Amino acid sequence: MEPIKIKIHSTGKYVPEKKVSNDDLSKWMDTSHEWIYKRTGIVTRHLSEGEDTSDLCIKASRNVLEGRSIDPEDIGLIIVATMTPDGQSPSVASKVQAAIKATNAMAFDLNAACSGFVYALSTAEKMLRHMHLPYALVLGGEVMSKAIDWSDRKTAVLFGDGAGGVLLKKSEEDEQFLTEDLHANGNKGYALTSGEKKVSNPLVDTQEASGFLTMDGREIFNFVTKSIPKSINKVLTDNDTSIEEVDYVLLHQANARIIEIVAKKLGCSIDKFPMNIQTYGNTSAASLPILIDELAKDNKLFIDKKQKIILSAFGGGLTWGTLLLEIN
Ligand code: ACO
Repeated sequence: MEPIKIKIHSTGKYVPEKKVSNDDLSKWMDTSHEWIYKRTGIVTRHLSEGEDTSDLCIKASRNVLEGRSIDPEDIGLIIVATMTPDGQSPSVASKVQAAIKATNAMAFDLNAACSGFVYALSTAEKMLRHMHLPYALVLGGEVMSKAIDWSDRKTAVLFGDGAGGVLLKKSEEDEQFLTEDLHANGNKGYALTSGEKKVSNPLVDTQEASGFLTMDGREIFNFVTKSIPKSINKVLTDNDTSIEEVDYVLLHQANARIIEIVAKKLGCSIDKFPMNIQTYGNTSAASLPILIDELAKDNKLFIDKKQKIILSAFGGGLTWGTLLLEIN
């Protein structure tokens, strides 16, 4: 029997309407456009005016399915990568399942912080191969603005809200998922924390943790600029591919300086590293699917020829991972 092959069938995204500039932020806190832009490349970010993560993900899902004549009952799996779910239960994925009437789909959230979409895509690709239904919906969605301490200028200026996703399909054509390299280093988990809750019950008298996002920016910067070039080189070597054969390297949009350093370490032009961090800031698990959808709608991806692309992300956990795909 022919092995089952998996391809990306369609893409979509949704970001909240409200655009907030660096100058707007400097009215709320002691910061400036110059500091934010020079350190990160961010100019604006979209912030939710009340929509929660499931609202963004439902709208992104509808965008993924739009004009595709897909019967939602043919979707067997929905994974939402998020570190900012609406709550602990029901999952965001369950809310999406109900909203789009994917009545046959199993649904769950996956948390690997900013690496979430890469982890979720890797998980879904493997699960779909063993399912009888033809489609899996993989989303990354975040309302980072609810996790942030708005009095902490070191983190508040970095993040934005949004959601994006792809529909995977079993295919008769060539396999799109070529190689992967996924990791975690829990020993450095302290470098990014969010949503911490202490045990509190009649037996223990506990002081509540603030739960706000904390980040040791330097620690993450150093970890990323070492681990990500290594991870990208690993998938290239494993697939006997050179960086010259790769059309685009899509990196998690956390900081333009990080992307420039990774490009330099790989010895390739920054033109291979599309960026939209200037518009959206760091949207955590949503950053890669938003970027993929923008490039697709710009006719730079999923065009009438085969393209090799790398997806690479890093974040809390610490977690990181890289996928090498050949798409068309
Ligand atoms: N506006 C103005 N000044 C500021 C601001 C601000 N928003 N934030 C910090 N500063 C000041 C600091 O107080 C400090 O001043 P001091 O020297 O007088 O003490 C100075 O600027 C330098 O601060 P640093 O924190 O040392 O700045 P750094 O150069 O390290 O840049 C940054 C910070 C942009 C966060 C960088 O470290 C970075 O990008 N790290 C990587 C973060 C990342 O990629 N995270 C991704 C994972 S996120 C996830 O998984 C959800």
